[in-house]
Amino acid sequence: MKKVTVGFIGCGGFAQNMHMPLLEKNDKYIIKAYMDINIEAAKSAHEKFGGEYYTDKVEKILDDQTIDLVFITTRHDSHAELSVKAANAKKHIMCEKPMALNYKDCLKVAKAVKENNVKYTIGYNRGLAPLVTKAKDLLDTTTGKIMAYHRIQAPFPEEHWAHIKNIGGGRFIGEGCHIFDLFCRLIDSDPISVYAAGGTFLDEKKVTVPDSANVTIMFADGSVCTTLIASAGCSAFEKEVTEIYCDNKAIFINGFKEIEYYGFEGHDKIAMQLDGVDKGQRIELDLLADAILNNTPSPNGIDIALRAAVISYKVDQSIESKQPVQITESEIYYHEN
Ligand SMILES: NC(=O)c1ccc[n+]([C@@H]2O[C@H](COP(=O)([O-])OP(=O)(O)OC[C@H]3O[C@@H](n4cnc5c(N)ncnc54)[C@H](O)[C@@H]3O)[C@@H](O)[C@H]2O)c1
Repeated sequence: MKKVTVGFIGCGGFAQNMHMPLLEKNDKYIIKAYMDINIEAAKSAHEKFGGEYYTDKVEKILDDQTIDLVFITTRHDSHAELSVKAANAKKHIMCEKPMALNYKDCLKVAKAVKENNVKYTIGYNRGLAPLVTKAKDLLDTTTGKIMAYHRIQAPFPEEHWAHIKNIGGGRFIGEGCHIFDLFCRLIDSDPISVYAAGGTFLDEKKVTVPDSANVTIMFADGSVCTTLIASAGCSAFEKEVTEIYCDNKAIFINGFKEIEYYGFEGHDKIAMQLDGVDKGQRIELDLLADAILNNTPSPNGIDIALRAAVISYKVDQSIESKQPVQITESEIYYHEN
């Protein structure tokens, strides 16, 4: 069976703890090479997961004609530049979120991906989580506008590079994009505006960008979704829950592990539980292998990547201006000039 040959660019915590173990278990993939500017990280990944070589030179990966797909699992400030380089080297791309730190760079990525006709997938795994897919299937049986709420709370360390504007982009660009994408998947309509109220809830001497907010997204069909993103949260309490209301029915997802739905299939309440937490990473990689091997659409392609990225930039604008910010169709769909 033809397999997808992978090279990693960035071998830090998430690559080693999530993507590499998943690829190791997926027989559609083979990991060939590891690159990191910190050679020790590349070496340790090679020792743990096998493969042919490790390096601190990105060109070695990009010039390797046997590598089909690169994982870009670096910090956020290098995602756009590496994605453009990888596309120009005719590599398919799995880029961890965010797509880029700003809209202009998103467009550069989109252009390079389209021009080189490579597959691109952004790591918005939560939108592909099995219980989110179940919720979407349930919503497809309803009519009417949707109201949804998602909480993402945890103590988020002040020292984390994600809070540094020009490295991580802050919490909304760096992580909120997951939830903005989750909402967009549930609703068959485009986001048209965003209003965010928030600020810095961690130590303001250490964190200089807003780290927490209530973000409300309005959709063209009248649906409304709100996410609470709290950085000064509590690890003893469930990090993420989703609540969805539509057509006199309700859906509740607890930690991507349990789902309860009310008023569906002729029952007051149905409850289901997975064996473990599943935030959709395994499914995303499986679908990506199929996309590459069978030339089918990427699970989280350019338009999906761009849509939530646009929302994330507008969140920062809205917090600063204290006003709702409009989203236009031309911003969320990439059009070649
Ligand atoms: N999908 C999720 O739920 C999820 C969860 C956690 C992290 N992530 C994402 O994974 C990515 C990596 O996060 P992390 O927590 O592993 O960070 P990390 O700091 O542990 O790892 C980043 C690695 O990239 C390397 N690096 C930096 N610049 C580089 C460059 N130009 N070329 C090659 N290597 C470079 C660093 O040396 C480091 O080893 C981020 O995009 C993050 O948002 C996603």
